[in-house]
Amino acid sequence: MTSQPITEAAEPDGPPPRHVAIIMDGNGRWAKQRGLPRYEGHRRGVDVLRKIVQHAGERRIKYLTLFSFSSENWTRPESEIRDLFNLLRRFVKNDLADLARNNVHITVIGARAGLPADIAGLIDKAEVDTSDNDGLKLIVAFNYGARDEIVRAVQRLAARVAAGDLAPEEIDIDLMSDAMDTAGVPDPDLVIRTSGEQRISNFLLWQSAYSEFVFVSGYWPDFDEREFDAAVSEYSRRERRYGAVGG
Ligand code: FPP
Repeated sequence: MTSQPITEAAEPDGPPPRHVAIIMDGNGRWAKQRGLPRYEGHRRGVDVLRKIVQHAGERRIKYLTLFSFSSENWTRPESEIRDLFNLLRRFVKNDLADLARNNVHITVIGARAGLPADIAGLIDKAEVDTSDNDGLKLIVAFNYGARDEIVRAVQRLAARVAAGDLAPEEIDIDLMSDAMDTAGVPDPDLVIRTSGEQRISNFLLWQSAYSEFVFVSGYWPDFDEREFDAAVSEYSRRERRYGAVGG
């Protein structure tokens, strides 16, 4: 029997993230840099979104949350809001069958009130048509703002208190988590933001308490699978301590 040379074991990386959340930023600047209308940046952004959803599934990521329309985006020009809604309409119409076939389960978080009726209908259809799938959970944040989500969660709990169904002192972290739009979804391990901006912009404020952040300098329409993998590797090299002392 030949003995194996003793080699020093490489420092093992941590486990991959279960839940990755992305702030897809920089569509407008990408277009402006090229002298194109902002719409072109968003259109390219959807192409990238499609590629990253497929890739995340192949990488066995269990949950992927994408920030696609913020509750603050209503302050944009009407024509741009119309473009973003049209992109969502087209995305659901063109991609839903493929996503369903690829075992993707879609849920949409954010306020439904105030959305055009056909958009609300398409969102419901996307959720219902994929509800039996047990592959990648794709969570689309649409008309989403984290402070608004927290307010709606508090209103739900307050209504239960008012109805005598819940005592105020019974409200704890788990109950709050269950009242959020993301009930049942583990908190994001990794949040990626493109475009060089280093802020959270009212995205998953409650859920990202212990998330790792990776900021990518390129604009979203230039983001690709290689950069996704690099962010995941960066995450796996970090040591997460959750407020405890490191090992
Ligand atoms: C940021 O770019 C991106 C958004 C406002 C939304 C992201 C939307 C998509 C990728 C397309 C929509 C997809 C669906 C499915 C609806 P920005 O416009 O803020 O860019 P800027 O900061 O450079 O102006």
